[in-house]
Amino acid sequence: MNRSFSSFAIHILLLISIPFTSSQTDENNNLIDQICKKTPFYDLCTSILNSNPLTPKTDLKSVALVMVNNILTNASDTLNYIEGLIKKTSDREMEQALAFCAESYIPVVKYTLPQAADAITQNRFGFASYCVSDAVKEVNSCNKKFLGSVTLLSPLGDRNGIVQKLVDVASAIIKQLLKG
Ligand SMILES: *[C@@H]1O[C@H](CO)[C@@H](O)[C@H](O)[C@H]1NC(C)=O
Repeated sequence: MNRSFSSFAIHILLLISIPFTSSQTDENNNLIDQICKKTPFYDLCTSILNSNPLTPKTDLKSVALVMVNNILTNASDTLNYIEGLIKKTSDREMEQALAFCAESYIPVVKYTLPQAADAITQNRFGFASYCVSDAVKEVNSCNKKFLGSVTLLSPLGDRNGIVQKLVDVASAIIKQLLKG
Protein backbone atom coordinates (compact mmCIF):
# COMPACT_ATOMS: atom_id res chain seq x y z
CA MET A 1 0.00 0.00 0.00
CA ASN A 2 2.73 2.35 1.07
CA ARG A 3 4.94 1.39 -1.86
CA SER A 4 2.22 1.72 -4.44
CA PHE A 5 1.32 5.06 -3.00
CA SER A 6 4.86 6.38 -3.32
CA SER A 7 5.17 5.09 -6.87
CA PHE A 8 1.88 6.81 -7.58
CA ALA A 9 3.26 9.99 -6.08
CA ILE A 10 6.39 9.74 -8.21
CA HIS A 11 4.26 9.35 -11.32
CA ILE A 12 2.31 12.43 -10.42
CA LEU A 13 5.53 14.35 -9.83
CA LEU A 14 6.89 13.25 -13.21
CA LEU A 15 3.68 14.18 -14.93
CA ILE A 16 3.85 17.62 -13.39
CA SER A 17 7.54 18.30 -13.80
CA ILE A 18 8.26 16.98 -17.32
CA PRO A 19 5.88 19.23 -19.22
CA PHE A 20 6.93 22.11 -16.98
CA THR A 21 10.66 21.89 -17.72
CA SER A 22 10.15 21.23 -21.42
CA SER A 23 7.77 24.14 -21.78
CA GLN A 24 10.42 26.35 -20.15
CA THR A 25 12.94 25.46 -22.89
CA ASP A 26 10.26 25.78 -25.54
CA GLU A 27 9.48 29.24 -24.32
CA ASN A 28 13.17 30.11 -24.38
CA ASN A 29 13.60 28.84 -27.96
CA ASN A 30 10.46 30.59 -28.96
CA LEU A 31 11.72 33.88 -27.54
CA ILE A 32 15.06 33.55 -29.36
CA ASP A 33 13.21 32.61 -32.52
CA GLN A 34 10.90 35.61 -32.34
CA ILE A 35 13.76 38.01 -31.62
CA CYS A 36 16.05 36.66 -34.35
CA LYS A 37 13.31 36.78 -36.99
CA LYS A 38 13.36 40.54 -36.62
CA THR A 39 17.10 40.78 -37.35
CA PRO A 40 18.81 40.74 -40.77
CA PHE A 41 20.76 37.51 -40.05
CA TYR A 42 18.46 34.93 -38.47
CA ASP A 43 20.87 31.96 -38.57
CA LEU A 44 23.80 33.85 -37.12
CA CYS A 45 21.55 35.30 -34.43
CA THR A 46 20.10 31.95 -33.31
CA SER A 47 23.45 30.15 -33.44
CA ILE A 48 25.00 32.68 -31.06
CA LEU A 49 22.07 32.81 -28.68
CA ASN A 50 21.79 29.03 -28.54
CA SER A 51 25.53 28.42 -28.23
CA ASN A 52 25.73 29.27 -24.54
CA PRO A 53 22.88 27.45 -22.81
CA LEU A 54 24.08 28.53 -19.36
CA THR A 55 23.41 32.20 -19.93
CA PRO A 56 19.83 33.02 -19.02
CA LYS A 57 17.89 34.43 -21.95
CA THR A 58 14.51 34.95 -20.44
CA ASP A 59 13.70 38.34 -21.93
CA LEU A 60 14.66 40.72 -24.71
CA LYS A 61 17.01 42.64 -22.43
CA SER A 62 19.09 39.60 -21.40
CA VAL A 63 19.22 38.49 -25.04
CA ALA A 64 20.50 41.93 -26.11
CA LEU A 65 23.17 41.75 -23.41
CA VAL A 66 24.35 38.28 -24.49
CA MET A 67 24.61 39.54 -28.06
CA VAL A 68 26.59 42.69 -27.20
CA ASN A 69 29.01 40.72 -25.02
CA ASN A 70 29.46 38.18 -27.79
CA ILE A 71 30.37 40.97 -30.24
CA LEU A 72 32.80 42.39 -27.72
CA THR A 73 34.65 39.05 -27.58
CA ASN A 74 34.56 38.68 -31.34
CA ALA A 75 35.67 42.25 -32.06
CA SER A 76 38.51 42.04 -29.48
CA ASP A 77 39.74 38.91 -31.21
CA THR A 78 39.54 40.65 -34.61
CA LEU A 79 41.47 43.64 -33.26
CA ASN A 80 44.24 41.35 -31.96
CA TYR A 81 44.34 39.70 -35.36
CA ILE A 82 44.63 43.08 -37.14
CA GLU A 83 47.43 44.17 -34.80
CA GLY A 84 49.26 40.92 -35.52
CA LEU A 85 48.96 41.53 -39.28
CA ILE A 86 50.25 45.10 -38.96
CA LYS A 87 53.44 43.78 -37.37
CA LYS A 88 53.94 41.21 -40.12
CA THR A 89 53.17 43.16 -43.28
CA SER A 90 55.89 44.85 -45.34
CA ASP A 91 53.45 46.43 -47.80
CA ARG A 92 53.00 50.14 -47.06
CA GLU A 93 49.51 50.45 -48.49
CA MET A 94 48.40 47.33 -46.67
CA GLU A 95 49.90 48.56 -43.44
CA GLN A 96 48.00 51.84 -43.74
CA ALA A 97 44.70 50.11 -44.42
CA LEU A 98 45.22 47.78 -41.46
CA ALA A 99 46.19 50.66 -39.21
CA PHE A 100 43.01 52.42 -40.27
CA CYS A 101 41.00 49.32 -39.28
CA ALA A 102 42.78 49.03 -35.94
CA GLU A 103 41.91 52.68 -35.28
CA SER A 104 38.28 51.88 -36.05
CA TYR A 105 38.23 48.82 -33.79
CA ILE A 106 40.05 50.24 -30.76
CA PRO A 107 37.25 52.63 -29.63
CA VAL A 108 34.62 49.98 -30.42
CA VAL A 109 36.32 47.39 -28.20
CA LYS A 110 37.42 49.80 -25.45
CA TYR A 111 34.45 52.13 -25.16
CA THR A 112 31.52 51.74 -27.52
CA LEU A 113 30.53 48.13 -26.85
CA PRO A 114 31.21 48.16 -23.07
CA GLN A 115 29.13 51.37 -22.90
CA ALA A 116 26.35 49.70 -24.87
CA ALA A 117 26.35 46.76 -22.43
CA ASP A 118 26.21 49.12 -19.42
CA ALA A 119 23.42 51.12 -21.01
CA ILE A 120 21.34 47.97 -21.58
CA THR A 121 21.85 46.92 -17.95
CA GLN A 122 20.66 50.36 -16.82
CA ASN A 123 17.62 50.30 -19.14
CA ARG A 124 19.02 53.20 -21.17
CA PHE A 125 18.11 51.64 -24.50
CA GLY A 126 18.30 54.88 -26.47
CA PHE A 127 21.94 55.32 -25.53
CA ALA A 128 22.64 51.63 -26.18
CA SER A 129 21.19 52.07 -29.66
CA TYR A 130 23.38 55.11 -30.26
CA CYS A 131 26.52 53.20 -29.15
CA VAL A 132 25.77 50.22 -31.37
CA SER A 133 25.06 52.34 -34.45
CA ASP A 134 28.41 54.01 -33.83
CA ALA A 135 30.05 50.57 -33.76
CA VAL A 136 28.26 49.73 -37.03
CA LYS A 137 29.78 52.84 -38.64
CA GLU A 138 33.31 52.08 -37.42
CA VAL A 139 33.26 48.47 -38.59
CA ASN A 140 31.79 49.45 -41.97
CA SER A 141 34.52 52.01 -42.50
CA CYS A 142 37.17 49.30 -42.01
CA ASN A 143 35.43 47.16 -44.60
CA LYS A 144 35.24 50.02 -47.12
CA LYS A 145 38.97 50.56 -46.82
CA PHE A 146 39.50 47.21 -48.51
CA LEU A 147 36.45 47.23 -50.79
CA GLY A 148 37.48 50.62 -52.18
CA SER A 149 40.92 49.39 -53.13
CA VAL A 150 41.73 47.51 -56.32
CA THR A 151 45.13 46.44 -55.20
CA LEU A 152 44.35 45.26 -51.67
CA LEU A 153 42.68 41.98 -50.95
CA SER A 154 41.45 42.05 -47.40
CA PRO A 155 43.65 39.84 -45.23
CA LEU A 156 40.92 39.92 -42.62
CA GLY A 157 38.99 37.33 -44.58
CA ASP A 158 35.50 37.07 -43.21
CA ARG A 159 36.36 38.37 -39.74
CA ASN A 160 35.37 41.95 -40.34
CA GLY A 161 32.30 40.81 -42.26
CA ILE A 162 31.18 38.68 -39.30
CA VAL A 163 31.62 41.54 -36.84
CA GLN A 164 29.69 43.72 -39.27
CA LYS A 165 26.80 41.24 -39.33
CA LEU A 166 26.90 40.85 -35.55
CA VAL A 167 26.57 44.59 -34.93
CA ASP A 168 23.68 44.71 -37.41
CA VAL A 169 21.96 41.93 -35.43
CA ALA A 170 22.58 43.69 -32.10
CA SER A 171 21.28 46.93 -33.55
CA ALA A 172 18.05 45.22 -34.63
CA ILE A 173 17.61 43.65 -31.18
CA ILE A 174 18.10 46.97 -29.41
CA LYS A 175 15.54 48.59 -31.75
CA GLN A 176 13.07 45.98 -30.45
CA LEU A 177 13.94 47.01 -26.89
CA LEU A 178 13.25 50.63 -27.79
CA LYS A 179 9.81 49.73 -29.14
CA GLY A 180 8.91 47.49 -26.22
C1 LIG B 1 33.21 35.22 -34.00
O1 LIG B 1 31.93 34.86 -34.54
C2 LIG B 1 31.96 33.82 -35.49
C3 LIG B 1 30.53 33.61 -35.99
O2 LIG B 1 29.64 33.36 -34.94
C4 LIG B 1 32.56 32.56 -34.89
O3 LIG B 1 32.66 31.57 -35.87
C5 LIG B 1 33.92 32.87 -34.29
O4 LIG B 1 34.41 31.73 -33.63
C6 LIG B 1 33.81 34.03 -33.31
N1 LIG B 1 35.14 34.33 -32.76
C7 LIG B 1 35.32 34.59 -31.45
C8 LIG B 1 36.71 34.84 -31.03
O5 LIG B 1 34.39 34.62 -30.65
